[in-house]
Amino acid sequence: MPTEALQFARQNQNRFLDELKDLLRIPSISTLPEHRGDVRHAAEVLAAELNRIGMEHVEVIETGGHPLVYADWLHAKGKATCLCYGHYDVQPPDPLEEWTTPPFEPAERNGNIYARGAVDDKGQMYMHVKALESMLHAHDGKLPVNIRIILEGEEEVGGEGIAQFVREHPERLRADFALISDTEMFAPDLPTLCVGLRGMIYTEIAARGAATDLHSGMYGGAAPNPFFALCEVLSKLKDANGHILIPGIYDDVVAPSAAELKAWKSLPFDEAEFQKKEVGSSALTGEEEYSVLERLWARPTLEIHGMPGGFTGEGAKTVIPAKAAAKVSLRLVPDMEPHKVFGLYKKYVESLCPGGIKLDVRLIHSGDAIVIGVDNPYVKAATAALHEVFKKDTVFIRSGGSIPIVGDFERSLKIPSVMMGFGLPDDNLHAPNEKFCIANFHRGIESLIRFFEKLGGQK
Ligand code: BES
Ligand code: MN
Ligand code: MN
Repeated sequence: MPTEALQFARQNQNRFLDELKDLLRIPSISTLPEHRGDVRHAAEVLAAELNRIGMEHVEVIETGGHPLVYADWLHAKGKATCLCYGHYDVQPPDPLEEWTTPPFEPAERNGNIYARGAVDDKGQMYMHVKALESMLHAHDGKLPVNIRIILEGEEEVGGEGIAQFVREHPERLRADFALISDTEMFAPDLPTLCVGLRGMIYTEIAARGAATDLHSGMYGGAAPNPFFALCEVLSKLKDANGHILIPGIYDDVVAPSAAELKAWKSLPFDEAEFQKKEVGSSALTGEEEYSVLERLWARPTLEIHGMPGGFTGEGAKTVIPAKAAAKVSLRLVPDMEPHKVFGLYKKYVESLCPGGIKLDVRLIHSGDAIVIGVDNPYVKAATAALHEVFKKDTVFIRSGGSIPIVGDFERSLKIPSVMMGFGLPDDNLHAPNEKFCIANFHRGIESLIRFFEKLGGQK
């Protein structure tokens, strides 16, 4: 017999999905200043919903950037305290013409809900809210465990607001563990816990040549071109085999354990299929001496995201731009330290600066890599709950992505995290046609309810 909370969740599936759609209609794009009001609106909607379902001490907390949303329910004497985390901000939706239906008009197709933020992270964060609602409703306003919930609005921009709050008010988030649904399942129907994330440094290299833009016929051949300067620099950051050429960059890299590597080998993963179906390129690149999963999860990498500057309009313009820039990030693995890595990187980039050019190397944001232990009662309850829903044993994976706050939870709050995500590998995070499998939205809610009820010692 399903518990009353599970029955409530099943009876209310349609309403839960409709509410998620309302949330997805709010374009809470944290990086675009013109959407500031939308980001705040999303925070207020969530705060109102947490209030409505019976959470206590609901608060929209101001930061230097976008607000946090906090709520708690702390009356389960003698039971564990869980800190639920999620983010309600989303990535920009461009390129718009690639979307089958508009990014902020959620649409259902083949069992999926398509919208920006569907899976990253509004849909997954909302599973927590709906699991809490189901339990509060079924247990007369009570929860089987103590809950604090903190939602942030600047995860996608590496915002400092939440990290600062965690550092300054650790007592307000005191908990036994954190629960995060912002990761993926390794394959459809395969319950997954994520136990490692890469860290990152996100940087910008600004190059300046002449005092002003120049006619490329009148000055070309004698005046420095900042794009060429950047090409020279960037081409020396990584070689054709995927090795990063920054001196000392690999010094602190810790390889995964033999047991972890062995477990990864037994995951259902086909490199050729990954290349064709997920990446869609004619070949994969990178360090051939490592398997693809090792390259994605346990090796640092360096990527160029964009090069603003010069003329990018249609047609032609004969100009030598005075300035150009490159957005460059490095993904980090344990035990690389972001600020140390940035120091090595900056020094090396500056050493490569061609004559006639001034380079300015700036750190935009950073976050630590983490690997978390699985030997704790929370992970046990999680795998047991997932088994009831998916009828399969959980696989433990790492992810190549980053969620900076997980490192802060570990360092400032000294608590482990359970990363129970329900995204799928082809959900198009940060890309056009982002989606969330509707069945996973509901299975996620069920898994969370079972997880909390197990931790609280109920069936
Ligand atoms: N949810 C993602 C991270 C992620 C994706 C983890 C897939 C595991 C699997 C998160 O919202 C994200 O995109 N993080 C950013 C980091 C941020 C500092 C910009 C990232 O990884 O680029
Ligand atoms: Mn996310
Ligand atoms: Mn994201």
